[in-house]
Amino acid sequence: MFDARIKLLAFVLICSTLIGLTRAQEFVANYDESKVPDYTLPPIIDSQDSGESFQTAWKLRRKELLDTFSQHMFGYQPKSSFQLKCEKLESGPSVGGKALRQQYRVSLGTDAGSQVIHLLVFTPANSSGPVPCFLGLNFRGNHTVAADPEIVVTQSWSPNDAKVGATNNTASEAGRGAASSRWPVEMLVDAGCGVATAYCGDIDPDFHDGFNNGVHALFPDNQPSEAHPDRWGTISAWAWGLSRLLDCIQTNVPEVDGHRVAVVGHSRLGKTSLWAGATDERFAAVISNDSGCGGAAISRRAFGETVGRINTSFPHWFCPNFKQYNLNEQSLPIDQHQLVALAAPRPVYVASASEDQWADPRGEFLSAKLAGQLYQRLGLPPLAMNEFPAHANTGVVGTVSYHLRDGKHDINAYDWTQYIKFISQLK
Ligand code: GCU
Repeated sequence: MFDARIKLLAFVLICSTLIGLTRAQEFVANYDESKVPDYTLPPIIDSQDSGESFQTAWKLRRKELLDTFSQHMFGYQPKSSFQLKCEKLESGPSVGGKALRQQYRVSLGTDAGSQVIHLLVFTPANSSGPVPCFLGLNFRGNHTVAADPEIVVTQSWSPNDAKVGATNNTASEAGRGAASSRWPVEMLVDAGCGVATAYCGDIDPDFHDGFNNGVHALFPDNQPSEAHPDRWGTISAWAWGLSRLLDCIQTNVPEVDGHRVAVVGHSRLGKTSLWAGATDERFAAVISNDSGCGGAAISRRAFGETVGRINTSFPHWFCPNFKQYNLNEQSLPIDQHQLVALAAPRPVYVASASEDQWADPRGEFLSAKLAGQLYQRLGLPPLAMNEFPAHANTGVVGTVSYHLRDGKHDINAYDWTQYIKFISQLK
């Protein structure tokens, strides 16, 4: 009896140590370049063709890659129909009269339910015609983007965050303008650009509830499950939401040139902008800022945040199939240079920050460089930078753009200054 108990105890101890070791392996981030495993990347394209037939080969390969990214990583977006209504809530002067502020209510509906996204748009007050525009999601609500008292405070679920005065999962007035350093509206309108944004939580709340809330609820047939491990996770839902915002902008916002909208995002929302640009070719250009693992960083490098870690911390971001690659990046049928390449032939920008090792700046650079080789074969300029920059605040702005900003994981005036140069190439 005693002996059996000891055996059982030993068994339990061994099992929990093994589980613990596996977890620990998942959670220890490598920041040592010499410990990056050897890896072979899947090619962006195999075709040896050139000229017109290469363009055709890329169109086909693009479809194939989109399908593989959908199936194994982000999850398929719904194919069934829905209704969309875009109503203007209000408009008025903002930024000391330099900008026109507009707010829209974007209502989505299916037989299963409805969902409202609030869209905030700033355009230069004095523009003589439609302007190029950045479109990106924000982390904590439109009211955090600028201190303007007319901006609607989000009613959607908000993560508790003292910095923006959100408690009991509810946003408050205290958050007004809290993220304004990330959204330099005055600088953007002064440069002749528009900027449009919506709260990501209006589309899908950023917590794991089994894919029941947000826009997931509108499409029960497309819900991720054991039977359907390839259906949209939250990042794919956010990207789909960005396309709905573009629907609204293209049809209802004449101040914006709907054919010069660059999709932009920081961090988790930079992963989202890459996927939105990949799935929706109406976005004229794609910008990912410090997007890291699951964004522009090469997964096989397993540097900083890894697939296992991201799937454990944020089990709702990707589709269930992606979990097969936890501690198993080398088996991935795709890698992130291919995601960057899915923007081609449209201009694409990958940006990193020097202290943001968690997001693997070198891995982000490599993706831009490798994607640039595809652009070159399409007859476009590649990334005009061969090596990872030795110093921060170095970059190139072109069809394929990259910069390494000095400092922390963030999006700030330095980044936007480059994005203004980048968007100005859209004609
Ligand atoms: C976490 C996460 C990253 C993500 C970031 C963010 O750090 O691990 O993958 O990019 O949050 O969205 O700010």
